[in-house]
Amino acid sequence: MRTTVGIIGAGPAGLLLARLLHNAGIDSVVLESRDRAYVERRQRAGILEQGTADALRAAGAGERMDREGLRHDGIELRFAARRHRVDLPALTGGRSVTVYAQTEVCKDLIALRTEEGGPLLFEAEALAVEGADTDRPRIRFRHQGTEDVLECDYAVGCDGFRGVARRAVPARLARVFERTYPFAWLGVLADVPPSHDELVYARHDRGFALLSMRPPATRHRPSGQAAPPPAGSFVSRLYLQVPEGTDAGEWGEEEIWDELERRFETADDWTLKRGPLIQKSVTPMRSFVHEPMRHGRLFLAGDAAHIVPPTGAKGLNLAVGDAVTLARALAHEKRTGSPELLDAYSGSCLRRVWQAERFSYDMTTLLHRAPDATGFEDRIQLARLERIVSSRAAETDLAECYTGFPFG
Ligand code: APR
Ligand code: PHB
Repeated sequence: MRTTVGIIGAGPAGLLLARLLHNAGIDSVVLESRDRAYVERRQRAGILEQGTADALRAAGAGERMDREGLRHDGIELRFAARRHRVDLPALTGGRSVTVYAQTEVCKDLIALRTEEGGPLLFEAEALAVEGADTDRPRIRFRHQGTEDVLECDYAVGCDGFRGVARRAVPARLARVFERTYPFAWLGVLADVPPSHDELVYARHDRGFALLSMRPPATRHRPSGQAAPPPAGSFVSRLYLQVPEGTDAGEWGEEEIWDELERRFETADDWTLKRGPLIQKSVTPMRSFVHEPMRHGRLFLAGDAAHIVPPTGAKGLNLAVGDAVTLARALAHEKRTGSPELLDAYSGSCLRRVWQAERFSYDMTTLLHRAPDATGFEDRIQLARLERIVSSRAAETDLAECYTGFPFG
């Protein structure tokens, strides 16, 4: 098999890249190790930066997002039983975020890819990228029990943190920067309308909690059904900081609600609405960057090159930023014959990546309680929060970072 761009992985990075290349008249093949139902069902992040939503629209993949996603103009910070709303557009010259699940973004991109006639191969597991530093990289893969080779002009690893593409970069040419955190998130989807109409980030002496939401599509509708959800029918997506290594099964339903209630406590009459839990899982927290994001004709994009802890909601947005930057560079090369943007790919993505790493780290350490935290650290956290809610400059910084960094 032969193509111009061989893409490993059908997450948001791989799928959006394939779409953008198609729009630029560049052919590609996407190899995805899982089956379609799995990819369309797995629960991931849900916040699209302004630039991400704009990029999906420009790619012709924003139609359902615009119908069913929710524009959010604020987030709430909650600490010491106090509530503070960060007004995103007022602080950023009109920028906001969109609540629309990553799963839905993937469904939309898969539907477009299928309409275009693919190729998008499910249950096609890449085994290795070979010849990355030659003119003809090759992706060895196994599809339906048979081994095959995809020859390409460029190979792109969009295969997530556990993918194989990164391994093709010789260790002596790579640098890895990593940090793990001594806690994780227990995430639940609950069949009850969200208790607040914007996201709530809560810092509590017992640990962090987050209130978010999902469109009802998350529970009712398989891919391809067009009826929009009735307004106001979102369900609750909630997270609790738990110790690293926690098994979701250790937490009973009542226990989860009781703990959420404690951490979201306020001085006013706000209440948390309870409902049946539909789904429960634990997400580990890690920061990770692989430099460079390119070796010869192999490019890395999305989680294959970098991971952020979920607190800043940046993972999906970084994946989209990489796909946009790479598609632009490949189109430029096709149009002009110049590799200048391809040469700039790694550096320009890494500048954005490190800003997102810094912001995600800041949000994580601002809101989570480390198991060995001292009284001093607790007071510093509260002082950092106090600073954000009392200084327009500090609050503006948070709002700018939250709504996103430009795609270079
Ligand atoms: N061969 C083929 N496909 C593979 C292989 C392989 N060897 N290894 C992994 N994959 C697939 C996975 O099954 C997955 O569908 O690559 C895809 C990677 O997708 P994501 O993990 O969604 O990564 P990415 O597209 O970079 O998007 C990043 O995902 O994890 C979240 O928080 C993260 O929101 C961020 C987003
Ligand atoms: C989510 O809805 O999954 C979500 C929202 C905001 C975050 C992280 C995750 O910061």
